[in-house]
Amino acid sequence: MVVIPAVSPLPSTVAPAVVARPFLKWAGGKGRLIGQYEPYFPASCHTYYEPFVGGGAVFFHLAPRMQRAVLGDINPELVNVYRWVRDAPKALMAKLEFHKRHHSPDYYYAIRRQHHLPLPLDRAARLIYLNKTCYNGLYRENSQGQFNVPIGRYNNPGICDPDLLWAASAALQRAQIVELPFTDILHQPLTPEDCVYFDPPYHPISPTSHFTHYSRYGFGPADQERLAQVFRQLAERGVRVMLSNSDCEFIRRLYDGFPIYSIQASRMINTNVERRGKISELLITSYAVAR
Ligand SMILES: C[S@@+](CC[C@H](N)C(=O)[O-])C[C@H]1O[C@@H](n2cnc3c(N)ncnc32)[C@H](O)[C@@H]1O
Repeated sequence: MVVIPAVSPLPSTVAPAVVARPFLKWAGGKGRLIGQYEPYFPASCHTYYEPFVGGGAVFFHLAPRMQRAVLGDINPELVNVYRWVRDAPKALMAKLEFHKRHHSPDYYYAIRRQHHLPLPLDRAARLIYLNKTCYNGLYRENSQGQFNVPIGRYNNPGICDPDLLWAASAALQRAQIVELPFTDILHQPLTPEDCVYFDPPYHPISPTSHFTHYSRYGFGPADQERLAQVFRQLAERGVRVMLSNSDCEFIRRLYDGFPIYSIQASRMINTNVERRGKISELLITSYAVAR
């Protein structure tokens, strides 16, 4: 694991100009669902754990209500980006400004070919640059772990947004960022004052859905079963746990006995345009929600 020294990039007198929100587009991002999720969030939380952080939409939304956070993901490149945004946003922005000045289709594909950059800062800037300029903001890798999404059609992609990055950096100051599989949460010192939000790769609802195919980290039925066991173990310890997943019998059965709510989501990651539209997803909590 790459260890980046923690530095304090924000003078305490500087308040971020915008509210923190995701600085990456991420498949399955929860930005559009936050309004529907709001009634189900715990009112307070000492330490917030999000072991499948992805774009971190729920973390950024809840950040003002928590004392500290532990954010995890199995994707080392994503973890690397979060650490640079937290610890050295200025250095990252300088790299992004360079990408912004040089952006063109040829430049995009030249950067995309740089699969093994040695410097973690260059890798972080490359991931943000490709994420902002690629087709649909999709993170997809081939079997060798190489990012392989074509360029998107944007007139003016937001490659470097300083306000957004400063706000994200401020929100991340109280976050520990770990490159670990979700099962590691069982080794964390959780108490009933803490909360956990699980947003795993969704269980596919049809043989043609590609929800679990956007990275080399597959997530099959055995992983869903293991996750449900972890959810139960945490619930038994009195921790408030929340989980999102697709609406299907398999998932409903795994969480039988817990409150299960239907949420209406728009499906964006579907290559077949005709099949994009409203779809029911599940939100499952380990605690009763007063509504
Ligand atoms: C659906 S995305 C999370 C979306 C995110 N919560 C958001 O709002 O943008 C799932 C994430 O889980 C990560 N992941 C996949 N398998 C994992 C595992 N076994 N342990 C931890 N993270 C995993 C992926 O790298 C991906 O970033």
